[in-house]
Amino acid sequence: MSKTVDWSALRKDFPILDQKVHGKPLVYFDNAATSQKPRAVIDALVHYYERDNANVHRGIHELSNRATNHFEAARTRAAKFINAKSADEIIFTRGTTEGINLVAATWGAKNLKAGDVILLTELEHHSNLVPWQMLAQKTGAKISYIPVTGDEGVLDLSKLDSLLTSQVKLLSMVHISNSMGTVNPVEEICARAKKLGITTLVDGAQSAGHLPVDVQAIGCDFFAFSGHKICGPTGIGVLWGRQEILDAMPPYQGGGEMILTVGYDKTEFKAAPHRFEAGTPDISGPIGLHAAMDYLDAIGRENIWKHDQELANYAYEKLAALKNIRLFGPKQNRAGLVSFLLKDVHAHDVVTLADQAGVALRGGHHCTQPLMHKLGVESTARASFYFYNTKAEVDVFVDVVKEIQKFFGG
Ligand code: ALA
Repeated sequence: MSKTVDWSALRKDFPILDQKVHGKPLVYFDNAATSQKPRAVIDALVHYYERDNANVHRGIHELSNRATNHFEAARTRAAKFINAKSADEIIFTRGTTEGINLVAATWGAKNLKAGDVILLTELEHHSNLVPWQMLAQKTGAKISYIPVTGDEGVLDLSKLDSLLTSQVKLLSMVHISNSMGTVNPVEEICARAKKLGITTLVDGAQSAGHLPVDVQAIGCDFFAFSGHKICGPTGIGVLWGRQEILDAMPPYQGGGEMILTVGYDKTEFKAAPHRFEAGTPDISGPIGLHAAMDYLDAIGRENIWKHDQELANYAYEKLAALKNIRLFGPKQNRAGLVSFLLKDVHAHDVVTLADQAGVALRGGHHCTQPLMHKLGVESTARASFYFYNTKAEVDVFVDVVKEIQKFFGG
């Protein structure tokens, strides 16, 4: 564990972690689904509702000005968080899913036509599959996939050159796989796509809060992430897009906030990002997210990354020493999660029995059904870590897995 951070002191910032579940101390290993929230984020939300609550961009009164200032300050903070050139490149969304849907509905509808190809990877979460399938149905575009090698969940980049045909208009890929823990070489893939004039989107749901993210260094055109996975509130996310691309995109939803002037037969729209934010937005969300981004960067995402990787490697090695276990995901450069299956035990049984021991896991297809089918499984059990988790908790978890194996006679 990184020596520069007092990890056990940080744990005290999370009131929810200090509780028993089914009479056992809570071990929260479902961080890829959603992270817990530190006191600083909870306080920011309470402060907003107790002192500043008003609608944004509308009032001239003090509370509305305060709410607007905090809302726009969060946009500036989000730009810094991912090293965007400007706050005007930051669109607030409900989360990664909405960010990707927004790109499909606006950029996609305008730029894709029959015969074009959308290139994805076999690792994708449903949120980076279904919007493109829906768009392909509407436009007649086709979808192709960069394949994964097998249980290691690594992309087979030897196929990339042949997949990057002149028909490909968009390449959309996950940065860190939520079900395998694979870290995709997004810089390299984006560079290869950009040479051919292909627009690129990176799904940063599992990466933004776990490692330093620099969208300019990645070289993508769009990057989407969710607040709730990075210690922020649910229902708020960020879509980043390059300014010149956002400027050329039609609006997403129509309504208040996104217009300059409206007549009975004609409307003029605002510039990005407000053109893409119709209606009263989630105001407390960005304020909570701002506190979360400050909190994470005070720890340092490079420290969080080291911590999470160390924990995942520790868990992987302990699990790999067991018999009758199938492990998924890469052996090298694994993000902070481990997916596994016990022989003859359904993943849901693992999760249910672990829960009785106070250990929160996730079991299922992890919204990556096509990948599960490719690997010949219906589901896996998954332990996913964050910086407030400890090696002692991994020991508890592995002991619980051993007990489950005994229970099932394995
Ligand atoms: N995508 C989230 C997960 O992996 C919900 O659990």
